[in-house]
Amino acid sequence: MEDRRLISYFILEDIFSRNIPLKKSYEMRVFGKDKKTASYIKELVYGVVRNKILLDHILEQATGKNINNLSKKVQNLVRIGIYEIFFMNHKDYAVLSTIVDIAKSQTKNQEKFVNWILREFLRNKDKVVIPDDDSLESLSIKYSFPQHFIEYLFEEVGLERTKQLLQFYNSKPPIYAFRIDELEYREFKDNERLTKKEYILDPIYLNIFRSLQLEETIDDVLDLCAAPGGKSFLVKSFLPKSKIVAIDKDAERIEMMNSNIKRLKLKNITTFAADIFKLNLDKLFDLVILDVPCTSTGTIRKNPDVKYNYKKKIDELVEIQKKMIEKAEEFVKDDGLLLYITCSVFKEENHDVVFDFLKKNKDYKMISQFFTFGDPFNGGYGALLRKIGG
Ligand SMILES: C[S@@+](CC[C@H](N)C(=O)[O-])C[C@H]1O[C@@H](n2cnc3c(N)ncnc32)[C@H](O)[C@@H]1O
Repeated sequence: MEDRRLISYFILEDIFSRNIPLKKSYEMRVFGKDKKTASYIKELVYGVVRNKILLDHILEQATGKNINNLSKKVQNLVRIGIYEIFFMNHKDYAVLSTIVDIAKSQTKNQEKFVNWILREFLRNKDKVVIPDDDSLESLSIKYSFPQHFIEYLFEEVGLERTKQLLQFYNSKPPIYAFRIDELEYREFKDNERLTKKEYILDPIYLNIFRSLQLEETIDDVLDLCAAPGGKSFLVKSFLPKSKIVAIDKDAERIEMMNSNIKRLKLKNITTFAADIFKLNLDKLFDLVILDVPCTSTGTIRKNPDVKYNYKKKIDELVEIQKKMIEKAEEFVKDDGLLLYITCSVFKEENHDVVFDFLKKNKDYKMISQFFTFGDPFNGGYGALLRKIGG
């Protein structure tokens, strides 16, 4: 048990003290652990991250201490303790004694303080009040989302839908397996195996591809941010005869894509690692796909840490997205198509990037757009543009 809580603590330290993404830290830290341990850690850590603002409120209500006045290490330790006791109903004193042991080994003389806080929490936990009105501050506490995120949703969709979406974003996402030769998906359970024709894909992308209606005349395709291959493989489902060149800056992700191609026995996909900004190809394409790096706010169910750090990153990402779409344009044939995709729910990364591009590139026109905040699948955006031949 100690091991599981200690690993959970290290993951929270990675996220909140070292800015390492939750998914990356979790995969690294549970590597080689048995399934039971890994799923315990997953439930605990993802639960703490999903509910961080609420946990900090509970701590303050029960102990009178403001979380910001505690050291990062103590913050993460007490969050684990409160989450296990309050949300997972684990035995109070077993949790307390392990957390104090971890404090002993991981902090400088803070174990007595951690012990005091958790005991104070146990004494007062039944008096904790979780706000239930519709003010911005209360919604932020109840659903554990920063106020700026809630404000954005509220302006876009109004109060009732905002509350539904926040609840949805806090739910555990099912995993879906997509069957490449039948354009069908199914829910994929933990203990199942993928068949030879399946890969993991959120059905939002199937919906994007369906609604944008790719033409059957498409032959040569360039996928510019391709790895680990989700969109290239979708193209293969819709247009099995197409020839795809797929590149990605990340060589490791290209390796993952290659093993997916091999497992799915797909033909006519050429991959290589390259930076889009240094890319020279002596060829133009019928369709260029640009699935840009983005805040990933459409995947908050799977990546709950995103809600706490997207704001710091969004401006820089938008700059990159604008440069990427201009570069992608260079590879589109006359009368060819450019497909811009994100898994973001923010206008800045979606509609605004595309319309900024259209304003500067009068030879392109919008064919169709698709957007969803999510529910029942991830949130995301797709825009299909045509280059008008001259
Ligand atoms: C949203 S992910 C792509 C997911 C992929 N299209 C799929 O469906 O599986 C964005 C990708 O962009 C890649 N990337 C980021 N900057 C890049 C650049 N300058 N050149 C090429 N690829 C880049 C990242 O390595 C990452 O794999």
